[in-house]
Amino acid sequence: MEGSNNMTLPDIKILDEKDKTLRKKSMEVTFPLSKEDKKLINDVITYLTMSQIEKYYEKYNLRPGMGLAFIQLGIPKNIFVIVEEVDKEKFENYVVINPKLISHSEELIYVGEGEGCLSINREVEGIVPRYARMRVSYQDIDGSRKEIRVREDLSVAFQHEMDHLNGILFIDKIDKKNPFKDKEKMREI
Ligand code: NI
Repeated sequence: MEGSNNMTLPDIKILDEKDKTLRKKSMEVTFPLSKEDKKLINDVITYLTMSQIEKYYEKYNLRPGMGLAFIQLGIPKNIFVIVEEVDKEKFENYVVINPKLISHSEELIYVGEGEGCLSINREVEGIVPRYARMRVSYQDIDGSRKEIRVREDLSVAFQHEMDHLNGILFIDKIDKKNPFKDKEKMREI
């Protein structure tokens, strides 16, 4: 999606970490998707895109985010959306339904500046270990089974969102006593 034309901010409400719904395990999605789910997917794509474009995040006071799972909207379905900025205000969208991890690298990475989440409205320091690369099988918006290889940031984003589907938040993965534990065993990105 290109962010140059005027976009309208979708009216979506993102749950905060205090909401227990985020701890629910999401359920397998059946096809065809409902009109409502399709609309919501489009709204999430628009929202995430706008949140990464300066003129919109300033205007609407948005926190930039590249991923959102349906459970963050209170809907326990195995669906998430990732909008990755691949070039200046050029975005690649991923609509991922019923994902399954096929394989992953031995190598672990972590985001040096820390991970963020649109449901966690505070700074959290520490290392969240993630696989550097993964192969994931998923269904697209029409229900076709696809396979994707992801690496680096995109691999982190997929793991972060797949965790949401299991009721897991990134803060759960940070060692409470020693947030930078095992740093030397992983590569910083
Ligand atoms: Ni999140």
